[in-house]
Order: sequence, then C-alpha cells, then structure tokens
Amino acid sequence: MAQSIKSLRGMYDHMPDDIVCWQWIEDTARQVFESYGYGEIRFPLVERTELFKRSIGEVTDIVEKEMYTFDDRKKRSITLRPEGTAGCVRAVLQSGLIHNQKQRLWYGGPMFRYEAPQEGRCRQFHQLGVETFGFSGPEIESELLKMSARLWQRLGLADRGHLELQINTLGQLAERNAYKAKLVDYFSRHKECLDEESLLRLARNPLRILDSKNAEMAEVISGAPTLLDALSIESREHFEALQQQLSDAGISFQCNPRLVRGLDYYSDTVFEWVTDQLGAQSAVCSGGRYDGLIPQLGGRATPAAGFALGMERLVALVAAANPIQPAVDVYLVKAGTEAAAAGAKFAELLRDASANLRVMEHIGDGSIKSQLKKADKSGARWALIIGDDEAAVEQVSIKHLREHAEQSTVPWTEAISMLTAAAHNDQNKRSM
Ligand code: HAM
Repeated sequence: MAQSIKSLRGMYDHMPDDIVCWQWIEDTARQVFESYGYGEIRFPLVERTELFKRSIGEVTDIVEKEMYTFDDRKKRSITLRPEGTAGCVRAVLQSGLIHNQKQRLWYGGPMFRYEAPQEGRCRQFHQLGVETFGFSGPEIESELLKMSARLWQRLGLADRGHLELQINTLGQLAERNAYKAKLVDYFSRHKECLDEESLLRLARNPLRILDSKNAEMAEVISGAPTLLDALSIESREHFEALQQQLSDAGISFQCNPRLVRGLDYYSDTVFEWVTDQLGAQSAVCSGGRYDGLIPQLGGRATPAAGFALGMERLVALVAAANPIQPAVDVYLVKAGTEAAAAGAKFAELLRDASANLRVMEHIGDGSIKSQLKKADKSGARWALIIGDDEAAVEQVSIKHLREHAEQSTVPWTEAISMLTAAAHNDQNKRSM
C-alpha cells in the first residue's frame, strides 16, 4: 500500500459538522456588514512580494519570518497573502474605486503565515475583514467598533464577558518617530532587563518591545514612557472623540497604551477585541486607522481604517457559547420498493416548497429502526417515514425527534405546509 499523504503542519481541514458554525458566522457577518452599507470585494490569494513588504513593513515579524514567498516560473517573487489590507488597497487603487469616492468594503478568505502552530494559531487561517476609505473623523472607527459589537451580539457572545475591547492611539508618523527616540533612550538604559528578541527590536522596531509577552519584562515595560504623552492636540482630540462616541453607543472599552499591533501601517487609532478563553492567542479581531498606507502604495493621500477577525478563533468562541446547530431538518426514512420511489418524489416536493428546509433522504437498505438511528444522528428535528402503505395514498408519518409530541400520519400536502412554516420560523430566528 502506498504511504498516505498528510496535510501540512498548521494547515487544517474543516469538517461538515464544524462548517455549520463557520457558515453561521459568515452569514451573520455578511448580514451585519451589509446592514451598515458595506459591499463585498474579492482579490487574489497571491500578490507580488513587494506589496506586502511595502505595506506591512520590512521590519515586522510577518515580513521577516512568516511569509510564504516563492519565485514563479518567470522568477518573479510572489507571496501568499498574510493578511487582507494590502491586497484590498492594491485592488481599490488599481481599479480607481477610491478615486474621489468614499468606500466601505468587506472580504473574507484564507491568509497564510509561517508561524509556530499552537492553539488558535495556524499557518493557513481565515479572516473576515472590512476596510473603509475616505473617512478622516473618529466616526468611522466608532462605526467599525459598533458593527463588530453588533456581530458579537448576534453570535451570542455579548453580555457574557467573552470579548473585551482594547483601544489605543499611535498618533501620526512624526509623533511616533519622536516617541520611538524616547523609547530607545529608555530601553537602552535598561538593556539588562531585555530579552534577546527585544534587544533586536530596540535597534529595528522599538515600539514592538511594548508588545512583548515575556512576563519577566513586564516591570521594565510598565515603566516606559507612554505614547499618549507625546501626542499632538489633533491626535489626542481624535482619540478622545472616539472614546466619547463609544461611551455614547454603550460600548465598553479599555485604553491600553501598550497596544501597538504587529503591522507598520497604522496611525492614530488601533484596537483589538480580546478574550481570555483561547489560551495565549487572545486577539479575535484587530484593526485600526492607516492613513499613510495609500500614498505608500502610490495613491493620493486618503484616510483609511478597518479590521479583520480571525475565523478559527471566533469559531472556537461561538461554538463554546452556542448549542450546535444541526445541518439537517428532515430525515426521510423509506421502507419498501414503492416507498423508495414515492419518498424520492416527496423529498423533491419538500425542497420545491421551501429553500430553507434541509432534507436528507435515506439511500440504500436498512430497517426502519436503523434508519431512525441515522435520522437521530443527523441532528434532524423530524424523521418522516414512508412505507409502501403511505406511498399508495400519498401520506407520511411525522416523528418528532427533539421534542415530546405524538407521531402522526398526515397527507403529503399537510406535512409540506407544516414543515415549510416551521422552516420559515427557524430561518427568521437564525437571522434575527
Ligand atoms: P492581524 O492582527 O494580523 O491584523 O490579524 C487579524 C486577526 O486575524 C487577529 O486578530 C487574529 O484573530 C487572526 N489571526 C492572525 N494571525 C493568525 C494565525 N496565525 N492563526 C489564526 N488566526 C490568526 C490584520 O491582519 C490586519 N490586516 C487587520 C486590519 C484590517 N487592519 C486594518 N484593516
């Protein structure tokens, strides 16, 4: 026998049972994004390497260590996208979509980073992201955060302490550079407290030292000067106005002066929705403002802000907080030769009657008892049983699998009305 081939480390298959939760999140997110007027954009999984170097920053973990970069057949360097913002900006610039226009866009799909795999951290992971272009005031950050809060609420995550919002401001580039100089000065005086990685960062990207998870460095980090003290009046006012708007909207948040993010394109507001329920990988959704990126990629100065959520992490939270949603509503049990043909016809009639009704037919042999076991395992709410006698008079027996109710035998038309009404109710509940 040939040796079997396994998936790559950190890249996972997602099975139908898990996908039910993925689809629920994707459908709910699409609905929420659209309810704020965001339109979907799709762009390639592979881009020129230069795009990511120029946008994410040469001296970042992503660009230095984590990108899947290859030469194509013509020896051009290309990279599997490690995130969506760079590709989205490239696409809107190339198509002229932000020429004299404001835009609100969303996207989803796989991203690739060669990180050390652990719980909640994969090498192929999936994001849902939104990007906005043309809005300079804090109202857009506030909209992004209200929209994400609405999503958590729809997904059953609100009010249970699952996600906490942390916000910070990085100010404008000039303010940040002045601050970086102060940081270098401070940490240079405390070099003996820095680990190897932070010593490297001191020379190349001192802000990232603030981000260190090394508990032994917590004290030296907490004594570091804060960026807030180095901010201009405009940057402070922007940040204060955002906080006011969040409070007005009833969204609680924590100001975290150590939140700096691992991508270089941010300015002013940055934020993360974090959880303490997923081990070390606490960030479920992250983003901020990136007014400098568009000129950096060859466009006219345009304010921009967005966020991306990590599907794997969100799925883990949502699955823990909600009962599993079955993938099937009706399991059709068929016993007898006439019943097999009649049942197949009846199943099609059910699907004709309601696009929301998920009908699984039993195919193959099997006693009624064993078919009912399969019906139960499928998660279906109802088993519909057709024997040759029922087939002859176009009737069906309805067995309720999830609630105590009498089994009844009714004409097909009645069963169809009852089931389509129930499916319609369920659909309304799902989309509430
Ligand atoms: P990011 O923080 O690098 O930001 O990623 C966003 C989210 O993707 C994280 O909060 C996390 O949930 C998820 N994520 C990141 N890396 C992994 C991984 N290796 N495995 C599983 N999940 C992961 C960005 O990507 C920015 N483009 C966000 C943004 C959009 N900023 C403005 N617009």
